[in-house]
Amino acid sequence: MTRTMRAVEITEPGGPEVLKPVTRPIPEPGHGQVLIRLHWAGVNRPDVLQRGGNYSPPPGASDLPGLEGAGEVVATGAGVDWPLPGTQVCALLPGGGYAEYAVTAAAHCLPIPQGMALREAACLPETFFTVWTNVFQRGALQAGERFLVHGGSSGIGTTAIQLASAFGARVFTTAGSPEKCAACLALGAERAINYREEDFVEVLRNEGGANQILDMVGGDYLPRNVKALADEGRLVQIAFLQGPTVALNFAHVMMRRLTITGSTLRPQSDLAKARIAEALKTHVWPLLAAGRVAPVMDRDFPLAEAAAAHARMESSSHIGKIVLRVA
Ligand SMILES: NC(=O)c1ccc[n+]([C@@H]2O[C@H](COP(=O)([O-])OP(=O)(O)OC[C@H]3O[C@@H](n4cnc5c(N)ncnc54)[C@H](OP(=O)(O)O)[C@@H]3O)[C@@H](O)[C@H]2O)c1
Repeated sequence: MTRTMRAVEITEPGGPEVLKPVTRPIPEPGHGQVLIRLHWAGVNRPDVLQRGGNYSPPPGASDLPGLEGAGEVVATGAGVDWPLPGTQVCALLPGGGYAEYAVTAAAHCLPIPQGMALREAACLPETFFTVWTNVFQRGALQAGERFLVHGGSSGIGTTAIQLASAFGARVFTTAGSPEKCAACLALGAERAINYREEDFVEVLRNEGGANQILDMVGGDYLPRNVKALADEGRLVQIAFLQGPTVALNFAHVMMRRLTITGSTLRPQSDLAKARIAEALKTHVWPLLAAGRVAPVMDRDFPLAEAAAAHARMESSSHIGKIVLRVA
């Protein structure tokens, strides 16, 4: 095997143009890890934040961007029973996905769902791990509940709409155009609110309030989310596209017995991520194999054109997942 690989690195914090093709040494798998020859790598908004210097890789992770991908295992470290070399997998990566080869914990790999192409499978891990742990574990969404997800046409949003619907919740969502709203309805949302024209607080309050809100916007959405929640409702915060600092009257939280929580996936322990992978395999992979849930694909770009992929994501003209063709 050659010892170097093609990759795309962040040359300095900045716009999409700082993403440049480079040659790097192929990483080596350590104990409990696998080396994957990637065919496809998913692009996620956290990659954009990392490129801008606002989302550092955790200690020990590759400095290359890329949190997920799919391909074939080509080597393993000690202590790995599955997946063995020759197995095709999709995997959550601690970083390093914008490359021909990436290393990750064996326990963060999942089988390719039956009947699914590697291109689609590459787009599963980051959003499915994030949605599962935040909506179903942390937020404890139940069948029959009213669930509001902001950014319904995003990678996260398209996943959350489908999973919440599949588990019997009533799904409400916000998006920034009629086309995006139509896509959200086609995925199973009962109501898609064009936030440029309608007030989501009013819509949800007319329905009795949201039992759970999954929010990535923050800023002035924080007090508005609190208003849109039903008594005992849960607000789960996974990002702050409009900023994390805001004045909030916490008396509402107390008087209406609300819960405000949130999490970010990347800094969590290997064990925590392995447990999420196990839960996904049990509860979600059968839905993917049955075709009841599927990643929504926007566009693919060659690895060397990662800058164009980022520009598309930042234009917010995409619906669903953007993916890099690596092999
Ligand atoms: N906590 C975690 O572990 C975790 C993991 C993965 C992702 N995330 C976060 O989840 C979010 C979605 O990620 P993704 O990869 O799915 O990204 P994405 O596809 O780029 O989605 C971002 C969405 O947010 C909406 N948006 C952008 N700027 C906005 C603004 N200022 N106000 C309101 N809406 C805005 C856009 O839709 P409209 O055109 O409709 O506005 C867009 O669809 C990101 O913020 C990301 O950082 C968190």
